[in-house]
Amino acid sequence: MLLDAGDRRPTLAQTAWQSRVAARCGAPADRLKKERVVPISFVLDLADEAATARLAEQVAARARRGDVIALAGPLGSGKTSFARAFIRALGASTEEVPSPTFTLVEVYAFAAGPTVWHFDLFRLRQPEEALELGIEEAFAEAISLIEWPERLGPLLPAEHLRIELAPGRSSEARVVTLTASPSWAPRLAGLMSDG
Ligand SMILES: Nc1ncnc2c1ncn2[C@@H]1O[C@H](COP(=O)(O)OP(=O)(O)OP(=O)(O)O)[C@@H](O)[C@H]1O
Ligand SMILES: [Mg+2]
Repeated sequence: MLLDAGDRRPTLAQTAWQSRVAARCGAPADRLKKERVVPISFVLDLADEAATARLAEQVAARARRGDVIALAGPLGSGKTSFARAFIRALGASTEEVPSPTFTLVEVYAFAAGPTVWHFDLFRLRQPEEALELGIEEAFAEAISLIEWPERLGPLLPAEHLRIELAPGRSSEARVVTLTASPSWAPRLAGLMSDG
């Protein structure tokens, strides 16, 4: 399902939908209304890890400098798997993409295109610790992939793409919910149907 974000006056249905998105994102619906943010949200079934990688490649092809991509979902849901495929799609070789479980951040520079900062904030004790990792530089200059984005609290920019992974019908399957803020919404057209 793809909702049209063109008309910024929310309809009743959109308002109800915003409440559902707000409930999922932890953002109060009245705040979304006040900021005139009408995110779009849709759900995809990912049959296996290859499907997760294909989604990551398609998002990578649409990403640009300054983007923030929040990778949400429980332990083992596939956030690092998604990030790995995203980073490889931009040119990193297989061995070069460790999970930042302990380092909290890994930085990838490419011959062309913006740097990618891959964060795993599970071990962050308070949001301000992310400033010591240089997260403001990442927001300004790079593409930020952020596992455990909830740990950032108010430091997570409102303008971001949220990719939430959840268990699917089998051990290999995942259900992914994408929630796009305005700059992302038009870029997601044709996702998972154009390659
Ligand atoms: N459809 C799928 N998408 C992603 N990963 C899958 C899928 N099916 C199976 N897997 C497996 O699930 C595991 C996902 O692990 P991964 O480290 O990516 O999770 P995570 O969400 O980053 O966990 P953590 O919260 O500990 O960082 C991997 O072992 C991967 O092979
Ligand atoms: Mg991980």
